Amino acid sequence: MPQPTPQPLPLARRCPLDPPDEYTRLRAEAPVSRLALPDGNVGWLVSGFEEVAAALVDPAVSAKRKFQTNVSPVTLTAEEFAASGFGDSFIGMDAPEHTRYRRMLTGQFTVRRLKDLAPRIEQIVDDRLDAVVEKGPPAELVQDFTQPVPSLVICELLGMPYADSAEFQRNVDVMMRLERTKDELLGAMTAMGSYMHELVRAKRERPDDGLISGLIQDTPSDGVPLTDEELAGIGNLLMIAGYATTANMITMGTLALLTHRSQWEALRARPELVENGVEEILRYLSVAPFGLPRTAKTDTEIGGQAVKAGDPIVLSIESANRDPRHFDAPDDFDITRERQRHVGFAYGAHQCLGQQLARLELGIVFGRLVERLPGLRLSVPLEEVPMRDDMQIYGAHALPVTW
Ligand code: HEM
Repeated sequence: MPQPTPQPLPLARRCPLDPPDEYTRLRAEAPVSRLALPDGNVGWLVSGFEEVAAALVDPAVSAKRKFQTNVSPVTLTAEEFAASGFGDSFIGMDAPEHTRYRRMLTGQFTVRRLKDLAPRIEQIVDDRLDAVVEKGPPAELVQDFTQPVPSLVICELLGMPYADSAEFQRNVDVMMRLERTKDELLGAMTAMGSYMHELVRAKRERPDDGLISGLIQDTPSDGVPLTDEELAGIGNLLMIAGYATTANMITMGTLALLTHRSQWEALRARPELVENGVEEILRYLSVAPFGLPRTAKTDTEIGGQAVKAGDPIVLSIESANRDPRHFDAPDDFDITRERQRHVGFAYGAHQCLGQQLARLELGIVFGRLVERLPGLRLSVPLEEVPMRDDMQIYGAHALPVTW
């Protein structure tokens, strides 16, 4: 039988809060389909829930990425990457290399640390809302709320001075842009690399109770302490994985609640719904338009489709979370929905390390938002909200509101 022509990754959205329509057809007709990647590679796009969930735990599927999913023409060579000092990210490693880092990091994301962070997060959220209320109405929530909150929380987690975070946010933004020059990318990564090396040196001299100091004091299972290079890589991964994702999930969650007024009102009337509401936000919305990149390590099968060793694979978690074979009425945003497992944080070896922190943050944010600003509403129609179609992490560039 002739193979269907490989198609590019679906990116065109009709509604800013929904995945591209093309996924509806793909899930029904070919939940594992031929994918044309912008770098000329041909691989597989996995869009069905069961297929994505299976691939996430398939030992034949490697987290190493040997291809490019987005259209940015700019990448760094291995030598340029190493010279930037940015440090390797274990998100793209397999066992046993990955396991060593994962174990150490799991030891840092303890219940105790989260418990200690909770009152700080409450304070951060309240302070930012005080500032918003003092300035407005109206307000622009990305600049004044949805970006600074997770940025302050990551600083708190790592033991990084907040004064340094604006520069960091700017560099992460350059990295996340689909269009940037090689010089801009190298500049941003080199700045983040040198900053993290400096921070690690400072923590070696003056340890605190943050995560970087915790990692320095911890002894890995193999008895070999982490080098500055490794610690810088971990710090940068946490900044990238923990900041832009959370900031944009807060922005998108706010947008979803404000454009589904009955859900906003339900949360206002029944604050105890917040935990469930956060889970629905994490299912219904996604900040990962380019999916999770994987490569077949050996020949395998995904959803009955033969995949060859070396084939690029993209797991679309945004599509999987809207799969009608797994969720009833998946396109309804319903904060009272009975909880079902979703793949917003992935599964398996690379399942989000910060998921409990993210849940805690989102819970505090949405709980406080409806309580403090019950009359909050968008001050422009949804179609006029500037979405991040030009970034690797989706969301909105601005959230104009009033109350
Ligand atoms: C709502 C916010 C967040 C979302 C939607 C999210 C989503 C994800 C997803 C889907 C993955 C799996 C990536 C893959 O398998 O390729 C992941 C991994 C990861 N996340 Fe998150 N994340 C969020 C917040 C955070 C936070 C707050 C942190 C830390 C402070 C964090 C740290 C990480 C790390 C370190 C990994 C890599 C884990 C590994 O490779 O073992 N994330 N995240």
